[in-house]
Amino acid sequence: AMIGKGQHRHFMLKEIFEQPEVIGGTLNTMLNPAERTITLPTLPFDLASVGRVRIIACGTSYYAGSVAKYWIEKVARLPVEVDIASEFRYREPPMEPGGLAIFISQSGETADTLAALRYCRANHQHTLALVNVPESTISRESEATLLTLAGPEIGVASTKAFTTQLVVLACLAVGLGRARGAITRETEATICQALAETPARIAEFLRRDDEIHQIAQGIAEARDVLYLGRGTGYPIALEGALKLKEISYIHAEGYAAGELKHGPIALIDDSVPVIVICPTDELYEKTASNVQEVMARGGRVVFFSDQEGVGRLATPAHAAMALPTVHPFVAPILYAIPVQLLAYHVAIAKGTDVDQPRNLAKSVTVE
Ligand code: G6P
Repeated sequence: AMIGKGQHRHFMLKEIFEQPEVIGGTLNTMLNPAERTITLPTLPFDLASVGRVRIIACGTSYYAGSVAKYWIEKVARLPVEVDIASEFRYREPPMEPGGLAIFISQSGETADTLAALRYCRANHQHTLALVNVPESTISRESEATLLTLAGPEIGVASTKAFTTQLVVLACLAVGLGRARGAITRETEATICQALAETPARIAEFLRRDDEIHQIAQGIAEARDVLYLGRGTGYPIALEGALKLKEISYIHAEGYAAGELKHGPIALIDDSVPVIVICPTDELYEKTASNVQEVMARGGRVVFFSDQEGVGRLATPAHAAMALPTVHPFVAPILYAIPVQLLAYHVAIAKGTDVDQPRNLAKSVTVE
């Protein structure tokens, strides 16, 4: 069937606004909101016996995997390695049999990710695909598949595929945690509650699109933009920088906030917008102090936090948005939205082709 843009100007914007619905639909496949439990589909291997996890992907899917590393290490107490597929496949890493290898791919057809999957199979790993296209090659060649129910994603820059990948990975982290006895019933219930509320929090935030539009006008003329975050906010910073590069052609870099003083601080002056992902969690103070360092050098900080976090900032940022307050575990899912919208509005201000950015392909099926 033909897929239209509905009332939206671009597929990307339509897909951004679909997120509450497709995240809710994806969560429904695993989350029982009344019981506050997660039930994973039956897998052909025992999660309790998994000793290490490897996540392999490209592009935006790689950043979803990078968030999952924090989650799985935290709630399942399992060591996780995340790899870019094109690096992994040629490195020929030694692997102990019986590990779990997870392949994240919206299309399920990315050549490098597929090659990595074949390598892992040959090296006796359990293989689990996380795809948006059930009949895709990566799904067919994996032992088991978890599905994102994002629906067809047309915009080349991934949005709803990313956030639905995140919710599946959050559920998987809880499932692994329970299988290993690493998570209490109470923690599982808390995370389930937070996940169940996420679609509503995102919908709430999407109503403030005009505020992001305003902020974007001040970024469109920048030559370089820096994105900072810590913990699961770090991969969101990387994803934000990728989105901006992809569709607005502005040079952007994502950095772990703690690495600021090891290099990127040299770039800061009043011409460099610095986008900061900073929910109030146990790392808030650390990131907030990096923000002060940036502001002391004239950097134009755009501060994404919540009411409490915006209020606690010693010097007000150039621009700040208080996002809905959420449990820190689900913060990366919510904070993905402002960086998507920011990239979109900057691209519109610059007049680029948002849905079909130059030189990029939706699915990279050849090397
Ligand atoms: C291309 C797309 C990206 C996507 C990446 C990985 O670069 O433009 O949006 O994140 O491929 O694609 P996959 O289908 O494997 O998730």
